[in-house]
Amino acid sequence: MDKKIGVKILGTGSYLPEKILTNSDLEKIVDTSDEWISARTGIRERRISKSNEPTSELAYKASIKALEVANISPKQLDLIIIATITPDMFFPSTACFLQRKLGIVSIPAFDLSAACSGFVYGISVSKAFIESGLYKTILLVGADELSKITDWKDKNTCVLFGDGAGAIVFSNSQKDDDILSVFLGADGLYSDLLFLPAGGSVYPATESTVSENLHTIKMQGREVFKAAVPKMALAAEKALELSGKSINDIKIFIPHQANIRIIEAVAKKIGISMDRVFVNIHKTGNISSATTITALDEAIKAGKVCKGDIVELITFGGGFTWGAAIIRI
Ligand code: ACO
Repeated sequence: MDKKIGVKILGTGSYLPEKILTNSDLEKIVDTSDEWISARTGIRERRISKSNEPTSELAYKASIKALEVANISPKQLDLIIIATITPDMFFPSTACFLQRKLGIVSIPAFDLSAACSGFVYGISVSKAFIESGLYKTILLVGADELSKITDWKDKNTCVLFGDGAGAIVFSNSQKDDDILSVFLGADGLYSDLLFLPAGGSVYPATESTVSENLHTIKMQGREVFKAAVPKMALAAEKALELSGKSINDIKIFIPHQANIRIIEAVAKKIGISMDRVFVNIHKTGNISSATTITALDEAIKAGKVCKGDIVELITFGGGFTWGAAIIRI
């Protein structure tokens, strides 16, 4: 009988736009303070893309770095997936724009929509595709430009978000199996606690959707917070169970970077100390589907995790959606 096909992680890369927006910059835009933002969220600054720098451009820059680390050319890929909720356009997919920028043709390319959980959802899809034998070498990207769907007059939300992209290259393997487990969940009952109302088929763009400011993120922060902690803890524990590993086998935990208080509460709930949790929210804010992969890439580059180490990614986002993945670097 043929040996089971496993997944090998070939490389990661990330890219954050150059422009830094600090909390003091935000003090000039809305009625807020560095003290409030830092204490309530842990965020000190975030990156903002240029007007002529769409999501596919950030995705491209992250992908080039991941392909370099993987030591493969774009021509060796046979599938591109981008997790995003801020696509360049409704269609074609941002993955098609990325494919064009990478100078390749013919291979399938599609976007995946699961809000902040998109990257972990993408890991699950990549694992299934590779294990089934359908694709051999997959580029998975988490890329978002939340600055472009943020209401810059709303102090409740505009202090939270930023822009960035991260990418990972997976290949099939007879020897390695670097995705140990993935656990996913969703609950559409809560879809109106975190959403972007207009521009789709419910409220197509009209003068009134623009004048009523319905093309920006709406969020009931406290409710989201309350749901995020138990769901992220549940996902973390379920993925561990599925992997057959114990909590002590995990070198670092990389949770979705939405709020340091959520991260600390999840760590407490699953029984780990904060020195085992990787945090970069102070520099990035919440970049939705890009948070876990940009943090993972930073952790690898900073030597916080080495070849063979096991890492758990834990996420939560609009939908609500949640998930966790246990991977070997
Ligand atoms: N500056 C100063 N004051 C503020 C600000 C601000 N930026 N924002 C809100 N306030 C005020 C409020 O008006 C309120 O004032 P009041 O008491 O006089 O009414 C007070 O601060 C407290 O407001 P809360 O909303 O209760 O503050 P909370 O402690 O819950 O923090 C926050 C708000 C940071 C949004 C938090 O609830 C949170 O992080 N929620 C989760 C967000 C999240 O995880 N999103 C995830 C996914 S995002 C995605 O999927 C795209």
